[in-house]
Amino acid sequence: MNLFPLVRPALGLVNPERAHHLTLLGLKMGFGPADRAGDPASLGIDLLGLHFSNPLGIAAGFDKNGEVPDAMLAMGMGFAEVGTVTPRPQGGNPRPRIFRLAAYGAVINRLGFNNEGHAALHRRLEARAHRGGIVGVNIGANKDAVDRIADYEAGIKTFEDVASYFTVNISSPNTPGLRALQGRGELETLMTRVLKARAGNVPILLKIAPDLTAEDRADIAAVALDLKLDGIIVSNTTIERAGLVSGPHAGEAGGLSGKPLFALSTQVLADIYRLTGSKVPLIGVGGIASGADAYVKIRNGASLIQLYSALTYEGPALVTRIKHDLAALLKRDGFSHVADAVGADVNL
Ligand SMILES: Cc1cc2nc3c(=O)[nH]c(=O)nc-3n(C[C@H](O)[C@H](O)[C@H](O)COP(=O)(O)O)c2cc1C
Repeated sequence: MNLFPLVRPALGLVNPERAHHLTLLGLKMGFGPADRAGDPASLGIDLLGLHFSNPLGIAAGFDKNGEVPDAMLAMGMGFAEVGTVTPRPQGGNPRPRIFRLAAYGAVINRLGFNNEGHAALHRRLEARAHRGGIVGVNIGANKDAVDRIADYEAGIKTFEDVASYFTVNISSPNTPGLRALQGRGELETLMTRVLKARAGNVPILLKIAPDLTAEDRADIAAVALDLKLDGIIVSNTTIERAGLVSGPHAGEAGGLSGKPLFALSTQVLADIYRLTGSKVPLIGVGGIASGADAYVKIRNGASLIQLYSALTYEGPALVTRIKHDLAALLKRDGFSHVADAVGADVNL
């Protein structure tokens, strides 16, 4: 049952964090829509040792505590990423800390990794494990961690039995100092320790910020190739405000997502694709609001795509629409599968 069209106007009136809690509550109660149509073969893709029936996933932050991964999969997502989760529960920054910029199709957030911690997420993922489906776990560090890298190692150890893949999130702008882990030396140390913490072979991806110099991008690509990382997610929210000229909330501190992030995150995506010589699987995220946007990300190097902000504006019907339009665009251009279109616009 899709109640979104009925409740959307009311959700738009309450504050965004409250609206999000109500959305999660509705999804937990089973009010999410079901996409039973099945995905066309052209949208299927094999990556990270997994088979995705379609390349579209829900980005991290929507379901930080793993309450609704199955509702997201039932809605037609090819995969769901939960988290960011930190070892110990933490409250995050003072409210208000999520702002809608409706005129721009954008969101600014400075949540600061509010989440219920490892134990609570692990309990939920264990309880739903028999259902299958691709559920990635996005791991982070507590704000007051003495040894941040140890927090990431703990994430790998805790969730290895329930995660389809891991995302190492070092790109949130809302935990002071976190993004410094993206520097070459720091990144090498971090990822070497994280890879060592893994007992089996659950894929480990790195999620990066869009606010990176050319040198940063080259360093990240080099480390990814050296250490044979399983993938890179491009990108997290931006601290830039270039796409926003004015308006309420435009000056709020935090990470900007949604439409104004699209061009910047796609540019970084194409850069990373080129710098890694197309050898590292990439997930494209940032400002996707249509099938055409999804297709641009794929042509710029993404094998998988994720979204968050547009879903809060458009509701779950967007998932079916994006998949339908993406399949049509692939067909129009003579690509029989998503994989054939990956990087089509990037000169290697
Ligand atoms: C309210 C909110 C919370 C988020 N929380 C997280 C998070 O916990 N971890 C993370 O890696 N990304 C987080 N993100 C970033 C998204 O996963 C995504 O990278 C970003 O929003 C760009 O995609 P979009 O333009 O489709 O929203 C969050 C985004 C929003 C809007």
